Amino acid sequence: MRPPAEAISALALVVGAIALLIFIGVEGALIYAVLRYRSSRLPAGRPARFERNTRLEIAWTALPAIVLAVVFVLMLGTMAEIGGGGVEPGLRVRVAGHQWWWEFSYGPVTTANEMHIPIGTAVDLDLTSADVIHSFWVPELGGKSDMLPGTTNHLRLFARRAGIYEGQCSEFCGVEHAWMRIRVVAESQADFDRWLAAQGRPAATRGGDGERIFLANICVNCHTIRGTAAAGAAGPDLTHVGARATLGAGVLPSDVARMRAWIADPQQYKPGALMPRVPLSDPELDALAAYLVSLK
Ligand code: CUA
Repeated sequence: MRPPAEAISALALVVGAIALLIFIGVEGALIYAVLRYRSSRLPAGRPARFERNTRLEIAWTALPAIVLAVVFVLMLGTMAEIGGGGVEPGLRVRVAGHQWWWEFSYGPVTTANEMHIPIGTAVDLDLTSADVIHSFWVPELGGKSDMLPGTTNHLRLFARRAGIYEGQCSEFCGVEHAWMRIRVVAESQADFDRWLAAQGRPAATRGGDGERIFLANICVNCHTIRGTAAAGAAGPDLTHVGARATLGAGVLPSDVARMRAWIADPQQYKPGALMPRVPLSDPELDALAAYLVSLK
């Protein structure tokens, strides 16, 4: 199969070409009529009249109907293709939109904001929302679909080449709508299998200061770190947060310094985000940030 975005682009080019031909035809006829029938070229005393041309009436009713029918059939074909077109998906991922981050579930393995997919494989997404209406869109890989609470919509992604593909929530969903970025890492099947296996493992627990601070504070009310007692479900799963390239669904690149700044005051970077500021001392922030970034 070809990437759904290519099918959409091909259809847009055909429809655009048809629209261009119609534009040239209509504008050409208009300019011709304006020049040919201007009053200085008509015999004096005879007003320009034009009535009861049955053939013309039929033509300008039938032609648009034919054009619309052709575009409709082309569109049905494209919809069938990007909806799957009889190709079985090689992978199914459940995606939930949250204010303002993404949850990706590969069976029992859950991660956030950064999804990985194998190249050359049809990936079907089951899209839903935990709160308000969001919209999933990674333009280079597929179409766009709204994500509605209580409903599951479906969208297919297909990547031909390995790389990083950027996406964005496309339905206004609150003050941080703009900071609901999607990062898709398309990679070889072997790399993807390695990534999924790593994501499936629980976090390496070492009982260090950072882990102790995390478990002793309100972090655990919202976040899960598999392998520890933290099992909150309101915020992103942090089991392997250090393996992700960004923080806060794209607000900051991820490293220890930014992780520390983010925890110290999330509202400075993402005003309105549901993550509160947790009162921690400087040494506690250092240890916590180092711990989280170590969760690869
Ligand atoms: Cu989520 Cu806009």
